[in-house]
Amino acid sequence: MNFLGLTILGTGHYLPEYIASNREYETFLDTSDEWIVTRTGMRERRIALDTPVWKMGEMAARKALDDAGVSPEEIDLILCTTVTGDFRYPSAACLIQGQLGAKNAFAMDIAAACAGSVYALDMARRYLATGDVKTILQISAEALSQTTDYTDRGTAILFGDGAGAAVLRGGDGLFASALFSAPDCGQNIHCAFPRRSLPFGGGTPAGEETGLTYMNGREVYKFATRAMPAAVQAACQRAGIGVEDLDYIIPHQANLRIIETAAKALKVPLEKICVNIQKYGNTSSASIMICLDESLREGRIKAGDRICMVGFGAGLTYGAVVMEYQSGK
Ligand code: UT7
Repeated sequence: MNFLGLTILGTGHYLPEYIASNREYETFLDTSDEWIVTRTGMRERRIALDTPVWKMGEMAARKALDDAGVSPEEIDLILCTTVTGDFRYPSAACLIQGQLGAKNAFAMDIAAACAGSVYALDMARRYLATGDVKTILQISAEALSQTTDYTDRGTAILFGDGAGAAVLRGGDGLFASALFSAPDCGQNIHCAFPRRSLPFGGGTPAGEETGLTYMNGREVYKFATRAMPAAVQAACQRAGIGVEDLDYIIPHQANLRIIETAAKALKVPLEKICVNIQKYGNTSSASIMICLDESLREGRIKAGDRICMVGFGAGLTYGAVVMEYQSGK
């Protein structure tokens, strides 16, 4: 059978226990709670002190599997989005597969930065549409604390850690996606591994590769306020619906002002926008999945609702998925 849409059988998330409040940043940076709240909407975020990315992903995945009533053996494909994985290889997806005992699955990571979960939903739907795989475990797990420059007040206060997951099957509801990347803007956020010196000559460290995040916040801000509405409009157009037909939008949680500006451009009331940025900051690709799980568990999003997930991030990547929420329950 060819599926046109997605069924979200279950969701879950994991957040580390340690809470870093805005006040804590005041102790080591020239910043203030007032500046952070006004400019970003963030009040606190979670930091994974000792928990690796794959472990956060595993915990979120276990909750999603439990919620779905699906066993690890039933999973055919594991897609994990991360740009902060613990290993260059193997993938976080393979590590999580091993922990879960998902012995019938194949597994891979997707690196599309903060737009990763939207990219993964698009990919999941395409795999399910072919009928080659029946059940997908999608995970987004990130530890931005591992790449954050805690001496740079322009970026240090933004990022947090966490993971979200969903168990997906094919469905017959509405689904459309619109994905984009704009590498000409890519210099505005990057994080490069330090290079080694090689015994053959060359390979000399260039000096700029710190392993930490560099971001031109103002440029990314301008990009995001254009990209988010454009992606939502493109996905709605492909779905054959108007933006006003959406019940909820779950945006990447990067900055409350970006979210509000995008909502205004789209003429969408804020009651239709799911936001948890005040609690968790920017968790990159995990932010949409964590927010989706919270919104479902709160009973805010219900079966039949038309939801849109929209993200943007390093690349620069951006994109949106529009779908009718079906739980299969
Ligand atoms: O998911 C990845 C995508 N990333 C993003 O979406 C980030 C997009 N950008 C942003 O969210 C915003 O640009 C920031 C929150 C990063 C910065 O906010 P802004 O309103 O654009 O501030 P700004 O960079 O224009 O800086 C304004 C002032 C500067 O001081 P001067 O030059 O005017 O004296 C900054 O040095 O605010 C200063 N500043 C701070 N002050 C207190 C920057 N960071 C801080 C800080 N505390 N943490």
